[in-house]
Amino acid sequence: MSDYTTLLIAEEAGVAIVTINRPKALNALNSTVLDELSAAFDELAANDAVKAVILTGSGEKAFVAGADITEMKEMNVVEGKLFAEKGQNVFLKVEQCPKPVIAAVNGFALGGGCELAMACDIRIASETAKFGQPEVGLGIVPGFGGTQRLARLIGRGMAKLLIYTADIIDAQESLRVGLVQKVTAPEGLLDEAKSVTKRILKKSSVAVSLAKDAINRGVEMDIPNAMQYEAYIFGTCFASEDQQEGMTAFVEKRKPSFSGRFVKK
Ligand code: CAA
Repeated sequence: MSDYTTLLIAEEAGVAIVTINRPKALNALNSTVLDELSAAFDELAANDAVKAVILTGSGEKAFVAGADITEMKEMNVVEGKLFAEKGQNVFLKVEQCPKPVIAAVNGFALGGGCELAMACDIRIASETAKFGQPEVGLGIVPGFGGTQRLARLIGRGMAKLLIYTADIIDAQESLRVGLVQKVTAPEGLLDEAKSVTKRILKKSSVAVSLAKDAINRGVEMDIPNAMQYEAYIFGTCFASEDQQEGMTAFVEKRKPSFSGRFVKK
């Protein structure tokens, strides 16, 4: 992996741990962080040794405290639109990464931080995590996907409550409304994220990647079209070595050994 100035990337047993590293600014997303995240996700997607990604923030206080307010303060109309599009494109890259991406939310996930966590597949929060979309308090709206992903994840009513009031909610409330999937003690956060990742990596990476695509695309479709897409994805699984191995292992009453190869030899 390349060297980045605002990201730390470590690899452990097929898992890349990406840490956003601007702790003095509570890991706020300036243009450099966005550009580096974009480049890093290109590299991670192309790197066959990486099977899954964990995304977290540096320090004990914040995952990401939002887009960088200092950078946004003097923007004009055109610059504001371009900045939103930049963030949106990076987060789409995270969402569409063919590998599972787990957010390990270690503190404040506000504004662009909440939006980044929502672009990940699964959110695991420390008990100290806090989520919110405080943008209307700054005279703007969420611009890195927040108005769209929050409503899709937790429903329009709760999304409007959070966005209109700029209320910040704790980890337990985030769990209750379905914004996060698990809450752990702060010291166990990375281990919990690794444990989930490890369970995923025992399965067929081909099937997991196709399931991600089916879920992500399907939720944007009406049910008949989504069913057709699922059937197409289901059929595609039968091109893989993993389907053959998974079913053969079941019949032979042994554990499967998946190659992750898409096309049967
Ligand atoms: N942008 C730039 N700098 C930020 C920042 C942000 N989003 N959040 C925190 N910082 C900086 C602070 O300016 C401060 O820097 P200095 O030490 O140089 O003064 C440092 O990080 C520490 O922050 P605080 O002193 O404010 O720490 P605190 O413990 O008193 O408060 C906090 C923590 C409640 C998270 C507070 O920092 C805060 O409210 N941050 C802003 C949160 C926010 O509004 N996020 C949304 C941004 S808009 C957005 O994201 C738009 C979008 O959708 C694209």
